[in-house]
Amino acid sequence: MAHFNITFKPDGTQISIHAGATILEAASRAGIILNTVCGGRGVCGKCKVKLADDTEILACQHKINADLTVTIPQTSRFYEQKILTAGIETKQKAELDIYKKYSNLTAGPVLGLAIDIGTTTVVAKLIDLKTGSQLATEADSNPQSIHGDDVISRINYAKSRQKPAELNKLITDCINNLINKLCEKTAARTEQIYEAAVVGNTTMNHLFLHLPVESLGKAPYKAYKLDAQDLPAAKFSLKINPEANIHTVANIAGFVGADTTAAALAADIENQDEITMLIDIGTNGEIVLGNKNKLLAASCAAGPAFEGARIEKGSRAAAGAIEAVVFAGDDIDIDIDVIDGGTSHSICGSGLLDAAAVMLDLGIIDSTGRFTKAENLPAAIEKRITEIKGQPAFILADTDQTQVYITQSDIRQLQLAKAAIRAGAKILQKNLGIDDSAIEQIFLAGAFGNFLRKESALRIGLLPQIGVERIKFIGNAAANGAELILLRNQLREKAKSLAKKIEYIELANDKDFQAIFTNSMNF
Ligand code: FES
Repeated sequence: MAHFNITFKPDGTQISIHAGATILEAASRAGIILNTVCGGRGVCGKCKVKLADDTEILACQHKINADLTVTIPQTSRFYEQKILTAGIETKQKAELDIYKKYSNLTAGPVLGLAIDIGTTTVVAKLIDLKTGSQLATEADSNPQSIHGDDVISRINYAKSRQKPAELNKLITDCINNLINKLCEKTAARTEQIYEAAVVGNTTMNHLFLHLPVESLGKAPYKAYKLDAQDLPAAKFSLKINPEANIHTVANIAGFVGADTTAAALAADIENQDEITMLIDIGTNGEIVLGNKNKLLAASCAAGPAFEGARIEKGSRAAAGAIEAVVFAGDDIDIDIDVIDGGTSHSICGSGLLDAAAVMLDLGIIDSTGRFTKAENLPAAIEKRITEIKGQPAFILADTDQTQVYITQSDIRQLQLAKAAIRAGAKILQKNLGIDDSAIEQIFLAGAFGNFLRKESALRIGLLPQIGVERIKFIGNAAANGAELILLRNQLREKAKSLAKKIEYIELANDKDFQAIFTNSMNF
């Protein structure tokens, strides 16, 4: 199958994608989230983009069969519009007012930072507080990862004396690095930064604030502090104006943090009439379910399989990783998309999901996840089934330098991760008294959430079984929520009340949890 290069303007991003993919898919691979009010059915007209000859087309309908340059207007972007208007589908408007408190300190630029401290990745955005415009974004790996890739290992590490300080210093240094890069990129000065809004899961929030984390590591997993805080920058070692204020957003519970509060705010879930499920899949998966009447939340220990960890040939979504695997009914072989094109050397989470979906469709694995003796396979597919280190495996790419494959134990890891998310969703649904058919929309947030293929996520049973058009990507909702909160007092208050309104459900306390989890392992 042919592959084509798609260049997005004015972003300047370029990706390579297989023939037949839509521009909407390509944009999401490039990290650009479009408005898809109708879920890609071609009826709302919100996803309009321009081709090089100025023709306007619907990104969700245009199938790629050539190299293209695509210009994405501001009005078709999901978050840029949301941030400027405080919500596309929300009636509430809030003025930019945080900058006003610094008017007596400077007549010059008043800049702010929106910071999302993820367990794996830290994102910082430099924002002009007077105009709301985003000046630059930088991201880096969370350096605390050297002490474990999930929050429990960080908590365990922090338990001994001195160690919380070490973890705190690691994250502070990381943010300072990002601040330097942001300032270099924009020729801004660090003393022009007067405000920061910080989100993260409860453990990241506590480690940043230098709060005790012991209670987060043992039942009933209580946070030391859930509330939002405003602290002088002088209390931190952040290299910004010493007069600056650091606002940390309210957490919901020990395992559902300020990042979920921010994501729920950005998704405007508390104003939805429709029953909505917001899923942010990171190292942990957080789910919020409900609508304007009632909101429930849970945290699912998916583990890092979706980020490529614990998968033999797995990796993060970086250059050289297989990000998509496709097999159209009349094809004679599978096709793969590799991040940045070129030779593949690993597979990332979205590729893993696709591969499992294709293997299920072809009968290479059965609904229990076991490799089976598939029949009537095209010869090219048959050749890909082999045995590696005593395990059945399916080869995705085979070159002189490297072989990328999926083994039986990779499939098991994927099953554990997807069962954790699906079981969490089912228990929230049970608490709300609804089945899949009552869920009117699913918002997928987070880095992984925005790159997966919805069809594959449905095929493997990661998501409740609803129509694909009702599943919407909403980008890095936590970081975008932080941006909203950074700019406006009213949204700070709203975030505080939202964190209190969302009712936390402890999955482990559900007597049926084990049965539901085991049941969710099947594809
Ligand atoms: S028309 Fe493309 S998403 Fe609605």
